[in-house]
Amino acid sequence: MGLVHDIGRFVGRAGVRHVIAGYDLMMEKSWPDAARACLTHSFPVRDLAAYNGEIDCTAEECARLTHLLDQAVYDDEVRLIQLCDAISLPTGVTLMEKRLMDVGLRHGLSRTTADKWRAFLSIKAHFDALCGQNIYQLFQDEVIEGIFS
Ligand SMILES: [Fe+2]
Repeated sequence: MGLVHDIGRFVGRAGVRHVIAGYDLMMEKSWPDAARACLTHSFPVRDLAAYNGEIDCTAEECARLTHLLDQAVYDDEVRLIQLCDAISLPTGVTLMEKRLMDVGLRHGLSRTTADKWRAFLSIKAHFDALCGQNIYQLFQDEVIEGIFS
């Protein structure tokens, strides 16, 4: 599911439209879990306004997206995809703060940014607790390399 979470980018350069495009493609293939990953990966907060990027879907698509987010089950599979997306750069695993700043610098900040960052930090704390350690320890070399290179 992690590998296909951004498959909606097949539509080309897109903002939130890639979320619904990926969801629809995966549902068309009868892969509802993958569809849910596409739908929820950018929404630790279930609020379309919290999307960091262009809201480039039609009013109908936005309403549908809002409805789908309201209905989606947020379990540990969903949270794990959100976590992975929030600690990954093209170069590898990094500190969440670095990744969130990367997104903020590219797309700007909004009134919901702080809430979204708190939600991501809370997801990391959840998996830290499940793993019985700070998850960065699992990627220690990669994280250090990314910071000092
Ligand atoms: Fe995405």
